[in-house]
Amino acid sequence: MANGRRVIIGAPPQEAKAYLELVAEHGSPLLVFDREILERQYQLLSDTLPDVELYYAVKAHPNEHIVRALDELGCGFDVASAGEMDMLMDLKISGRRTIHTHPIKKDREIRDALRFGATTFVVDNLDELEKLVPYRDRVGILLRVSFSSEDAAVDLSRKFGCDVRDAAGIVMVAGKLGLHIKGLSFHVGSQCENSAKHVEAIEQCHQLMEEISKSVPVPMSTLDIGGGFPADYQLAGIDISSFCAPIRKALGRLPRDWHLLAEPGRFLVAPSVTSITTVTGRSERHGTCWYYLDDGVYGSYSGQIFDHAIYPLQVLKDGTTRPSILAGPTCDSIDVIAEDIQLPELEIGDLVIGHQMGAYTAATKTRFNLLPDARFVCRYDNS
Ligand SMILES: Cc1ncc(COP(=O)(O)O)c(C=O)c1O
Repeated sequence: MANGRRVIIGAPPQEAKAYLELVAEHGSPLLVFDREILERQYQLLSDTLPDVELYYAVKAHPNEHIVRALDELGCGFDVASAGEMDMLMDLKISGRRTIHTHPIKKDREIRDALRFGATTFVVDNLDELEKLVPYRDRVGILLRVSFSSEDAAVDLSRKFGCDVRDAAGIVMVAGKLGLHIKGLSFHVGSQCENSAKHVEAIEQCHQLMEEISKSVPVPMSTLDIGGGFPADYQLAGIDISSFCAPIRKALGRLPRDWHLLAEPGRFLVAPSVTSITTVTGRSERHGTCWYYLDDGVYGSYSGQIFDHAIYPLQVLKDGTTRPSILAGPTCDSIDVIAEDIQLPELEIGDLVIGHQMGAYTAATKTRFNLLPDARFVCRYDNS
């Protein structure tokens, strides 16, 4: 483990062979999608939160194979842009199975979303509420409330969500504008260490919704508990059922007829995609061996910059290790995937594997240096 990163040295022969065959067939770099893992993750989360409707946060990995697989499992979709909606439309997924969760929207986007069939929208301030007035008969509105989580790797509370103390006022203004706010939503931050913040947010939303419902003609009855369900970047065997047990308990205290939603991204897709890169060059610099790979932080590893993720790495060889650095292919010196790690001597052509690389990886890649994208290949997908 270096800087909190898991580095696996060596691989069983069958596993190494499978990676080598993939590169022989498809080239390098690759992102390899395992649909069975995605299905397992979806099943695990559905089983552990049986009363919660799941809407995959498309932003985590807007890939047609992933979306199609989740569609076939019956999952809904959380979209945040016209581009994400277009993608679902191309895949013939009905807008009725989507929720639009971006609190800030252009009018054009609202109209496109309605045309697509999405009717649930999220707001967190009065300007956004007013944008929905022309469509008041066709929209269901969720008010996003801000709860910050110090334990989350990615805090989403600074940019979005109204203050808890302002929620009642916004709902009252909505009533005057002829708009009905059907419930609250929150996102306590992505990659949460534990579910304490989810529980606190559920309890506060419960109180708020009951309180506000006393003063509005139609009671609020929808609660969207967002995302935040963690990926296993330490490969420590996260037990999602234990993580969600306190959430389940808190949800069990809500009125039975409330409609419950969640917008998971990371937990569903992170383990289902593996990166394969190839060593394309080496250099000995100040007693450390630098290995230059054909993918880096401007590509599939962009999540190390934007998402603060530290992916577990694996080399297929074993042997005596020495201080090493893995760098990406661009000309920029920040394009370094891992420093201060111990690796066995690698050669040009050797493979480096990145695990848990399905969420916020390809989604944030750039075209810097006009390098080609990692090719996305499906391992056990017959579609
Ligand atoms: C509004 C919204 N919903 C859902 C998600 C997905 O969260 P996660 O990947 O933590 O499950 C995000 C992530 O940024 C988000 O902003």
